[in-house]
Amino acid sequence: MKRITYISRISHPLSIKEIEAIGNISSQNNLQVNITGLLVYFEKLFFQIIEGEDKEVDQLFKKIGKDPRHRDILRLKTEYEVRERLFPTWSMKTINLDHNVDELLRPVEKNNSLFGHSILLRNK
Ligand SMILES: Cc1cc2nc3c(=O)[nH]c(=O)nc-3n(C[C@H](O)[C@H](O)[C@H](O)COP(=O)(O)O)c2cc1C
Repeated sequence: MKRITYISRISHPLSIKEIEAIGNISSQNNLQVNITGLLVYFEKLFFQIIEGEDKEVDQLFKKIGKDPRHRDILRLKTEYEVRERLFPTWSMKTINLDHNVDELLRPVEKNNSLFGHSILLRNK
């Protein structure tokens, strides 16, 4: 198997719904070809990890590369001969950090003051 990690920049503003739609379509498609991974959106950037059989990963990366919704794709890492998946149960977990920050921080805020810095993060 193979794993590719890249970042890219959006070509034009994308709504929360449009980012969700990319995640949903990706997840459906990836299930068919046994690709797993993670897609993070943050301040006009995408960060994605895709993993699966070599051929499928290469084909998908090519397709993603032609998607006009983003540009300046920078491949950060290619891992070959991958034996184990990092995200075996995520056909494409999509996290919009611009939108879900409060939700993601809730578990750490609730518990104790050790994580008090998360309050600062929220107010940045
Ligand atoms: C940042 C980004 C990540 C994407 N990731 C995937 C992906 O993991 N799997 C996928 O099938 N399509 C992904 N896409 C969408 C593809 O570029 C393409 O639009 C889609 O696969 C076309 O689906 P269709 O062939 O069913 O029309 C991504 C698009 C963007 C902009």
